[in-house]
This record gives sequence, structure tokens and C-alpha cells, in this order.
Amino acid sequence: MLISDIYDLEVIKKALPEGADAICIKETDSTNNMARELISQGVPHGTVILADRQTAGRGRRGNCFYSPDGGIYMSVILNAENIPYTVCAASAVCRVLRSFGVDAGIKWVNDIFIDGKKVCGILCERIGDHVIVGIGINHSVEKFPPELETVAASLPIGVPNREKTVAAVLCELFNVLDNVDDAKAYYKENMMLYGKKVNFDLNGAKKQGTVIGLGDNEELLIKTANETVAITSGMVTLCVQMNNKC
Ligand code: BTN
Repeated sequence: MLISDIYDLEVIKKALPEGADAICIKETDSTNNMARELISQGVPHGTVILADRQTAGRGRRGNCFYSPDGGIYMSVILNAENIPYTVCAASAVCRVLRSFGVDAGIKWVNDIFIDGKKVCGILCERIGDHVIVGIGINHSVEKFPPELETVAASLPIGVPNREKTVAAVLCELFNVLDNVDDAKAYYKENMMLYGKKVNFDLNGAKKQGTVIGLGDNEELLIKTANETVAITSGMVTLCVQMNNKC
């Protein structure tokens, strides 16, 4: 296993709870997969795995997460509680990026966007009594493949380096995990679709409504003309106003 020379283990460990370990390697298929293996071997709460690149980075709903050199790929292993982990992780990343002066917003449920393009994806997975919080940030990705060019972007030049960004995200993540109500409120305030009219699918039917909030289980609450529905997955897109039809 080749050790990363981008991250200093001691710097990363300072951002973790006492006793947690940090593992920083050059390449793996997926840090979430590595985290699964480590859970089966038994690791302390808060342990983080970082990779310089991933060969099979995974996203939600079976999607791939493009993971070349230049990005941040990390998985945090936590003792599972009844907490909305995706909401906490998205709030932590968004807060850190905003503290860097970047105009970041949260795209329900697990993405962070800047200027209409995705800069971060989050994949939380529950394994027995553990949770893996996987975070991928396009920190200094020089080039995206043609199919991603219009939808993904890297952080702007001038943000702190990868090590500082990781340390800041980890500090904020452990902070919000102790302040879940605050994280939920922050998520809602910074949710790009909040208060907006959207198109969505409900049991195969195309619907429209206004996003009015977030449920206790990370579901999106949408008010249609005659009811309030809770969406747990699927595409929700901004309703573009054309001829006042929307
Ligand atoms: C998504 O876009 O749906 C979520 C992407 C999550 C990517 C991160 S990178 C670190 C961790 N390892 C993975 O394979 N996935 C997550």
C-alpha cells in the first residue's frame, strides 16, 4: 500500500476524535470499500481513510464518482446513531467552502454545487452498527471527461490546499454531529431548491410543487396544489418558467 505524500497523518489526526486513526494512501478502488473492510477488522470511531485517487469511486444509486488525482476522497467510520448523516456531512462541507469565500449551495440530497455545477458528492452507507460517511470533493481536478464537463467543476483557484480543506471538513463534521439541529437548519437555509418550484416524479406520475422543507429522515417536503408529499429519492429539477406554465 503506497502512502500518500499529500496528507500529513499527524495533521489529519488532530481533526479527529481521540483514539481515531487516519490512513492516507495513494490509490484504492473506493475509500468506502476500504472502510467496509476496516469495519470488519474493528477500528475506532472517527477513523478516516483518504486516497489521492480512486479507480472505482461510487456515488448514490449505483453512479460512479470520477476520482482522478487532484480531488479529495475520504471515508469516515462512525459508530451509528439515529442521525441524518448526509445532512450533517453536506452542511459541514458547505460551511467550510463558504468560509473559504466560495458561493456553495446544497443540492438535495447529497451534492454541493457552485455556479450550477457539482463540486462535491456524499455517500453515506450503514454497515451493521457503523456508518461510513464518504465525501468526494473536486478540489483541484484539472480536466473532466466530456460527459461531465457541463455538470461538474473543481473548486476555484485560491482555496486552501487539500490537507487544510480535509482538516477543516473533518473538524466541521465532528462539530455538526454534536449539533444536529443546527446542521439541519443550516442545510435547509442553504438548500438550492428551498422555496423553489420543482418538477418531480411521484409513483410514476409527473408532478410540480414548491419545496417547503426537509423531513426527519432527509426526505424532501414538497407542497403541490392539493397535498404535501415527502420525496425520498429520485430526480427533482428546478421548474423553468416558460410562458407562465410553471
Ligand atoms: C454521489 O455523487 O452520489 C456521491 C459521491 C461520493 C463519492 C465519495 S469519494 C469517497 C467515497 N468513496 C466512494 O467510492 N464514494 C465516496
